[in-house]
Amino acid sequence: MKVIHTIKELQAELSALKAQGKMVGLVPTMGALHDGHASLVKRSVAENDVTVVSIFVNPTQFNDKNDLLKYPRTLEADCELLQSVGATIAFAPSVEEVYPEPDTRSFSYAPLDTVMEGAFRPGHFNGVCQVVSKLFDMVQPHRAYFGEKDFQQLAIIREMVRQMQFPLEIVGCPIVREADGLAMSSRNTRLSAEERKTALNISRVLFESQQFAKAHTLAETKAFVEEGIAAIEGLRLEYYEVVNDRTLQTVRSWDEAEGIVGCITVFCGDVRLIDNIRYK
Ligand code: PAF
Repeated sequence: MKVIHTIKELQAELSALKAQGKMVGLVPTMGALHDGHASLVKRSVAENDVTVVSIFVNPTQFNDKNDLLKYPRTLEADCELLQSVGATIAFAPSVEEVYPEPDTRSFSYAPLDTVMEGAFRPGHFNGVCQVVSKLFDMVQPHRAYFGEKDFQQLAIIREMVRQMQFPLEIVGCPIVREADGLAMSSRNTRLSAEERKTALNISRVLFESQQFAKAHTLAETKAFVEEGIAAIEGLRLEYYEVVNDRTLQTVRSWDEAEGIVGCITVFCGDVRLIDNIRYK
């Protein structure tokens, strides 16, 4: 596996590979890689000849400067993991390489990006679209892989690709969970041992709500989750929205949409965790 830091070197490497007709998969990440990322990389390795994994903590998507400062950075361990799962190139550029000048472009995919994370993290999806569109231009992959844990991000990136006509396929991959159910996240490393135990209640309540939903209305199920989280000391619910899986708009009854997903954001101490669950 090659570790590359500049766009010039990346493109020289990729044009040689593409000239040989190789299919290229891209897995964009912010590093601090875990088994969730590994599952995306493995899928790309299985489906493409070449897999590029970008490792870049993108400053423009952090609306909270403290979150940006505290974001874990573990390049050496990341490269070891990528090597072990068969990635071809780890692309780890500097901030100056990606943003030689401030990115003044703005992306707006209302109403997809105005709800949930869009409402609570102003500017977040604009920053995500800035960096992901740059990565698509730099790598020009045939396929790009994103996790369903960031359910809203995946929907917005699909919409960006559709509107901007990027000639690539977006592949959404299922959430990977710890043995006790907690959705894998780079932020989990910031939880204390006590918080880590508390955090598993998030997925527990969501899974219980999947069963509960079978015999209850949507409003009752929403209350079940909200009350379930409120009952746990150490958790603070930011939002729980039950949405149409395509439009991301709130639904009020189970027959209002073909696909329905519950999206949750919870603070465990000062660590902000997200998760989601499919009802249908
Ligand atoms: O999901 C992430 O880790 C980031 O939002 C992404 C897609 C790598 C863009 O920085």
